[in-house]
Amino acid sequence: MPKPGSMPSRRKPSVDLAMTAVLLALSGQSQAADPARGRALLAERQTSQCALCHPIPGTPAYLQGDLAPDLRGIASRLSPAEIRHHLTDPDPASIMPSYSRTSGLINPGRLYLNRPILPEAAIDDIVAYLTTLTDPP
Ligand code: HEC
Repeated sequence: MPKPGSMPSRRKPSVDLAMTAVLLALSGQSQAADPARGRALLAERQTSQCALCHPIPGTPAYLQGDLAPDLRGIASRLSPAEIRHHLTDPDPASIMPSYSRTSGLINPGRLYLNRPILPEAAIDDIVAYLTTLTDPP
């Protein structure tokens, strides 16, 4: 029984999903790309960081970034390969980071020395989710 007045300790399901995705990806298990995991990761500020810059569909307004384009309807503008390219090889003039590159980075934080921001499987999951966003705002 929790003490009276104590906060319930359940974590949000989206965070659990994102953590599961990252743990699975880090454990090297190959899995089919899963849009539900991609959706959870996209909204997870600490892991994917997408929401620091982008407005993310379905998240509360105060958690959404406004430095980058709205991703709603992205699949009506870009093919899955083009979406993936944005994550792996973004325009060097853009503040959007590469999620897979480990070399040629400008002053990467120590956390990201010789390691990509996200494992390949997590990138696949995010692309699988973004590919479902066909309705423009
Ligand atoms: C530091 C800020 C920043 C972060 C973090 C970031 N982005 Fe971006 N992103 C941008 C900016 C700015 C643009 C627009 C310029 C460009 O196309 O590079 C952009 C463009 C894009 C585009 C192309 C959008 C279009 O309409 O053409 C996609 C797709 C995208 N980002 C996905 C993501 C995803 C998915 C993540 C997280 C895994 C992410 N971004 C993280 C800043 C960011």
